Amino acid sequence: MARTRSFFTLTSLLLAGLSTAKYIVPGGRWHDTDGKLVNAHAGCVTVDKSTGKFWLFGEYKVEGQTEGGGVSVYSSSDLATWESHGLALAPVEDHPHIAPSSIIQRPKVVYSKVSKEYHMWWHADNSSYGLLLQGFARSPNISGPYTFVSATAPLGNWSQDLGLFTDYKDGRSYSLYSNGDRKEGRDVYITSYNEDTTGLEKVIHRFDKYDLEAPTIVQTDKSYYALMSHKTGYRPNNVVAFRADSLAGPWSQPFMVAPLNTRTFSSQSGFNLRIEGTKKTTDLYLGDQWDSNSLWESRYIWLPIDIDDKKKTLNLVWNDVYDLNVKTGEWSPVKGTAYYGKDAKTNGAAFKQEANFASQGTIVAGIAGNDSTVTFEGIEGTGKPQWVSFYYQNTDDLGFGDQPGGTPDRIGGAWQLRRIASVVVNGDTSKVETLFQRDTHKSIILSTPLLLTLVKGKKNTITVGGLYNGFDYKGADIDRIVVYPSEKS
Ligand SMILES: *[C@@H]1O[C@H](CO)[C@@H](O)[C@H](O)[C@H]1NC(C)=O
Ligand SMILES: *[C@@H]1O[C@H](CO)[C@@H](O)[C@H](O)[C@H]1NC(C)=O
Ligand SMILES: *[C@@H]1O[C@H](CO)[C@@H](O)[C@H](O)[C@H]1NC(C)=O
Ligand SMILES: *[C@@H]1O[C@H](CO)[C@@H](O)[C@H](O)[C@H]1NC(C)=O
Repeated sequence: MARTRSFFTLTSLLLAGLSTAKYIVPGGRWHDTDGKLVNAHAGCVTVDKSTGKFWLFGEYKVEGQTEGGGVSVYSSSDLATWESHGLALAPVEDHPHIAPSSIIQRPKVVYSKVSKEYHMWWHADNSSYGLLLQGFARSPNISGPYTFVSATAPLGNWSQDLGLFTDYKDGRSYSLYSNGDRKEGRDVYITSYNEDTTGLEKVIHRFDKYDLEAPTIVQTDKSYYALMSHKTGYRPNNVVAFRADSLAGPWSQPFMVAPLNTRTFSSQSGFNLRIEGTKKTTDLYLGDQWDSNSLWESRYIWLPIDIDDKKKTLNLVWNDVYDLNVKTGEWSPVKGTAYYGKDAKTNGAAFKQEANFASQGTIVAGIAGNDSTVTFEGIEGTGKPQWVSFYYQNTDDLGFGDQPGGTPDRIGGAWQLRRIASVVVNGDTSKVETLFQRDTHKSIILSTPLLLTLVKGKKNTITVGGLYNGFDYKGADIDRIVVYPSEKS
């Protein structure tokens, strides 16, 4: 008996090794192997060339504390399953630069062939952003602990949002940074590191006065694409890219990288990862979906990037759920089954409304509280957890009309980032799932996934209502839901 069981375990392990075990689900609640939320914001993924493992670094944020949590680190072999290794850079009481009251933002980690150590750089600041420095720490071990070395002004200038780019052709690294919000600043720099990535050498290019932030560079055989976001705090905007043949330029005019008014699928740029597989090279956009209402719950929007060097275009490709094979570099969308608002049952004040931009011309509006809900029926489930994407429209309007890149829809708007819907499976109100529905713009439909367990068979129901989000009980308008197959295990 025991023997049979271990045979099957071994077989399934082998099978799991052959295909990707888990899907990548942008905007979902990602849990690590301990069942905790993956807590690494605005960071980077560094590949350990000797093992092929991916290491995710980012800002560690806990509930009630938005800054000063230090830098967390996770490892993965498939970019979907993450194991926590705690803090790579822990805050130190009373330290001038890495105290719990310090700003430790946008950490980037790079391997130095000279020192044979890992070097970490970040935006180092005090809580009023008055220092604008670059922090530097190092470790012989990729997972850390990293030892603080310095916090310096790059070539004497200011430095706010920090990115780091390594050219795959010659291995040289570059620091990317915006020089703050002051009138004399508002530029973004590309500055080369020395051979050892312990300091900066010279300015290669300066993007003058575009007033952008969160820079990252995507490289192809022919081009460099520099992605940056506008400055709207923790609210998303339309990320733009510049293209050039060389890092020194000339750089093109900036252009948007996602469908207009999706605000880059409610995300901000910050890093990207090149996966050079045996069959294909895939570039991934690693964006942040900040949540200013609860920063610690911010999500990750990781998407494949579609680049056409002949047309000189770059676009992010939205997928609710996709399957990436990090060995071959291939990825494919996972196919789901859609259930439409038009066919669903409304309750209370919820109603079906004409909407020429919605699926089958209909959207469900008026969702609020427990009694004005929409119920999708006849949903097929597997009996195991599966991702379900909820497509909605939330027209609160972020109220950023006076800021570049913000919505022009409303001056001094509601300033609400999201509504919250309740999701109940098969009428079981003892388990209410919370679905954050970000502001989308009028007539823009976006989706957010939840991991739900339905019963096996075709008799499931899913009911969507509204929960209190700090100002009312309204849920966003629902277009449809898409139910995805369970992950392979
Ligand atoms: C941050 O540093 C600047 C420059 O030294 C200083 O003016 C400011 O008071 C500091 N802020 C805090 C909160 O210490
Ligand atoms: C390096 O980190 C790994 C993973 O956290 C750990 O298992 C290993 O013991 C560390 N090695 C050293 C030399 O600290
Ligand atoms: C930083 O650069 C800007 C121009 O981009 C310049 O006006 C400013 O004086 C510089 N600041 C410092 C501290 O060197
Ligand atoms: C929804 O129902 C719960 C109990 O089932 C109740 O506590 C809550 O106040 C209700 N909310 C609204 C908005 O009706």
